[in-house]
Amino acid sequence: MKGRLIDHLKDCETEEEVKSEFAKYFNFKIKTKQRYDHYSKQILYEFKYDQSLVSRPIRAKIIAQTLYYIRELKFGGGTKPIPPSICIVNKKEALIFETKKYKDFYNDTRRNKYDWDRAPSVPCPNLVKDVMEYPFTINLHVYNFELEEEEKNFIKKYSEAREAQSRLLDYDRKIITEDNFLEIYDYWKNLFGKYVENSRKATEYFIADVEKDKSSIFKGNEVVFDLGEGNAKIKPIPIDDYNYFWSVYDKVDDLKVIYGIRQKIDRISEDYERRFTGEFYTPIAFARKGSEYIERTIGAEWWKKNDWRFWDMAAGTGNLEFTLPTSTLEKCYISTLLEDDAKYCKRIFPSATVFQYDYLNDDIPTLDPAQDSIEPINVKMPKKLYEDLLNPNLKWIIFINPPFATSNTVGMETGKTSKDTVSMTKIRELMEKEKMGETSRELFAQFIYRIHKEFGGK
Ligand SMILES: C[S@@+](CC[C@H](N)C(=O)[O-])C[C@H]1O[C@@H](n2cnc3c(N)ncnc32)[C@H](O)[C@@H]1O
Repeated sequence: MKGRLIDHLKDCETEEEVKSEFAKYFNFKIKTKQRYDHYSKQILYEFKYDQSLVSRPIRAKIIAQTLYYIRELKFGGGTKPIPPSICIVNKKEALIFETKKYKDFYNDTRRNKYDWDRAPSVPCPNLVKDVMEYPFTINLHVYNFELEEEEKNFIKKYSEAREAQSRLLDYDRKIITEDNFLEIYDYWKNLFGKYVENSRKATEYFIADVEKDKSSIFKGNEVVFDLGEGNAKIKPIPIDDYNYFWSVYDKVDDLKVIYGIRQKIDRISEDYERRFTGEFYTPIAFARKGSEYIERTIGAEWWKKNDWRFWDMAAGTGNLEFTLPTSTLEKCYISTLLEDDAKYCKRIFPSATVFQYDYLNDDIPTLDPAQDSIEPINVKMPKKLYEDLLNPNLKWIIFINPPFATSNTVGMETGKTSKDTVSMTKIRELMEKEKMGETSRELFAQFIYRIHKEFGGK
C-alpha cells in the first residue's frame, strides 16, 4: 500500500483536501454532485477538517448531521439503499459504526421529536442532545491515526465495511409511503415493467408486489402476484434484481397506505411527465413540503376533524392537491380558470368538489358586507361552498400557487392568447377604487386581496 494514512492526511488544510486524500488512499472517486460528502451502497461518508471527534458534543453534532441524510434515504424518494455503515473522518481521526444503531433516532415516524426541516449541517439541538447522551455514542471508539496500531485497526474495520456488498440483510430498509411511491414505482417499472405488463397494467402488479403477502417467489425466477378477486398471475422476473429490490425496501403492511397508493396511482396518466416538468405546474416537491407545513401548523390528519375546509382557487392541474392523502379530498374545494384544467382535476380527484371558476371575476357581489342578502341560487360557486363560507364554525386552509403575472401578461400565464377582457378583472377594479396603485395590476395581489375580503374575518 501507499504508506501510512496519517502521512496523507496530516498536511491537509481543508475538508476538501481530507476528502480527496482519503479517497485517493483508498482508491475511489468522490462524486461531487450529491448532497452527501460521499455515498456508496455500503458506507455513507462525512468528512471534516479538524473538528475533534473526541469531543462528545462535536461528535454528536456530526453524527446527527449524518442521520439527516439517512432519514432522507429511508423516507424520501430516490432509490439509493441505506448504507449499513457510516464513516466520519477528519485529518487525524475517524469513526465507523453501524447505521442501524441510530435507527430509533432517524425513524422518528411521527416527526414530533426532532425538527427534520433544518439543514443537516445545523441539526436539531434536541437530536444532538439525545445523540450525545446515547450510550452507544459515549462509548463509540475514535480511531486516532497518529497511533499506527489504531490506524491499522481502522483500515481493517473500514475495509470490511466496504466489502460488505453481498450481505444485503445488513441494510435497514427504505419505507414506501403514499408520499414517495411515485419515484419508487418508476424504478420498479424500469426493472420489471416489461416482464409483467400484458392485459393488466404495470401499476396493478406494483400494488400487489408492494403489499405484504400479496406476492411471493413461486419457483426459480417466477413470481406470483395476487391481483385480487381470485386473480393470481405468475410472471418470470429477473430474480436477482427482484431480490435486490426487496432487500432495499420494506413491504407495506398498513392497509391505509396501500389504499392511498392505490388511489393516487390511478391518477397517473399520460400527463404524468408534464406534471413534473411543465413550466406552470407547481413542482411536486414544493407541494409536498407545503402540506408538511400545514400539518405541522394545524396538526396531523387535520382532515379528520370536521371543522376544516380546504380551497385551492388557482388549482391548474392540481399538483398542490396531488400529494394530499386521498382521504383529505372530501374536505377540498378545487377550482381554476380554465375549463380543461377543471375537467382534468375532476377526473383525478373524484371525491373533491371541483369546478371551473374565475376567482378574480366570478361572484364578486358575495364580497359585499351585505352578502347575506344574496340568494345562493345566483352564485356561480357550488352551493355547498357558499354555505361553508358562511358557516362561522369552519376554519379554512387556502393552499394556492397563484398566477404570478401582471394583468396584461395574463395570457402567457394561462397558456392562452392575452385578451383585454381578462386583463381588467373585477377585483382589479375594486382595488383601484381603493387606490391600491400599481399593485392592483398584479394577479397574485388580486388573489390575496379577494382572499383577504373573503376570509379576513374568519
Ligand atoms: C402558478 S399556476 C398554479 C398551478 C397549479 N398549482 C398546478 O399545479 O397546476 C396558476 C394557475 O392559476 C390559474 N388562474 C389564472 N387566473 C385565474 C383566475 N382568475 N381564477 C382562477 N384561476 C386562475 C392558471 O390557469 C394556473 O393554472
